[in-house]
Amino acid sequence: MSLPDELLAAVAGRFGTPVYVYDVDAVERRVEELRAALGPRFTLAYAVKANPSLGLLAVLARMGLHADVASRGELAAARAAGFPASRLLATGPSKSDADLAALVRGRVGQLHAEGPEELDRLEELGARLGRRIAIGLRLNPPWGIAEKRTIIGGPGAKKFGFDLPSARKALAERKRWPHLHVCGFQVFNASNVLDAALLVENVGHVLDLALSLGRRFDVPLSSVDFGGGLGVPYADGERPLDLRLLRDGLARVAARAAREPLLARTRLVFEPGRFLVAEAGEYVVRVVGTKRSRGVTYVLVDGGVHHLVRPALIGTPHRVRAVGAPPGGRRTTVVVAGPLCTSLDLLHPGTRLVLPSRGDFLAVENAGAYGYTESMPLFLSHEWPAEVGVREGRIALLRRPPRVAELLAAQKTPF
Ligand SMILES: Cc1ncc(COP(=O)(O)O)c(C=O)c1O
Repeated sequence: MSLPDELLAAVAGRFGTPVYVYDVDAVERRVEELRAALGPRFTLAYAVKANPSLGLLAVLARMGLHADVASRGELAAARAAGFPASRLLATGPSKSDADLAALVRGRVGQLHAEGPEELDRLEELGARLGRRIAIGLRLNPPWGIAEKRTIIGGPGAKKFGFDLPSARKALAERKRWPHLHVCGFQVFNASNVLDAALLVENVGHVLDLALSLGRRFDVPLSSVDFGGGLGVPYADGERPLDLRLLRDGLARVAARAAREPLLARTRLVFEPGRFLVAEAGEYVVRVVGTKRSRGVTYVLVDGGVHHLVRPALIGTPHRVRAVGAPPGGRRTTVVVAGPLCTSLDLLHPGTRLVLPSRGDFLAVENAGAYGYTESMPLFLSHEWPAEVGVREGRIALLRRPPRVAELLAAQKTPF
């Protein structure tokens, strides 16, 4: 899914490096591919946190997607991008009072509650505003898909959602919250899953759980939400998610749902982030120089984990390629290291590249999700990267980053 090298070089030449580049055509194609795999019975909601760039959100809103927001900031971004409130869901642990108030006042279509204390706070809000709020309970069942790297946490205790005993207790006592209309369930229990069969199996289990709670506690099922978690390959040798297997499996789930009266009007939702945008993004850096130390070749570049923290955070390197390198050139093993004063600042701990020269560009792939906004750009006070989109060959700035001088100007020295 990577953009042609000439385009990346043109972007880097025009906007400088480091720079984030998104292939907007690739995002649109991804949406269409996934929609085809999900079929008409499932609703596609984009998890804004994966990449909240307004330029991308606007494209996704125009394509008719729903979106899942986790904060009042994401709510503002989604609304500014053109998502109607009715197409928004809200999910996120430890929501502040200000976040809850903004989400309720903003009339998001459904709010996912993460625990009984959140129900208490939402009830207070509903009572104060004289409104009944549509609520889905986010559930944390004791089963799920084991993650290769912990992101959501797989099965087991975690900060997300209601464990099943607390969910049953809350449902049994829901008269305590007269301003809340509990009308659905959400389970998001694993991230970056590449096995379509496991995803489908999990969807079946979530549906069983929603049905059994719905029946036992007489909960109308307006929505059952299976979360995100559709994976993309990061490492060489990892195989992409098999969309045909996903499609066939979900068609069986849809057929089953069609036979179930309780699900007749239920919206079945997926809320992927990574799958739609990860592979469409690249983080482009410029080579500052190379050096050898104790038998290791370092390629030193002008960007690092302050802009793309994921390789250090999750411990999985992203593929790196030399932009414009001659095909068939002799490759050598190098460490790609950034400018931060920590040995953690490696964009790759060991990859095979045609040895680049000072001034060449490297592209770090799969940087479209959990990249730009999952980073820590203040560390070491380097300039921030711009975000640039490419659509049908047209290059356009999506986000002008704050300059270091502006960030400095926002500070005071009162003591
Ligand atoms: C509630 C919720 N939904 C969806 C997602 C998207 O997950 P992914 O990017 O793995 O599809 C996340 C990611 O953290 C999430 O927290």
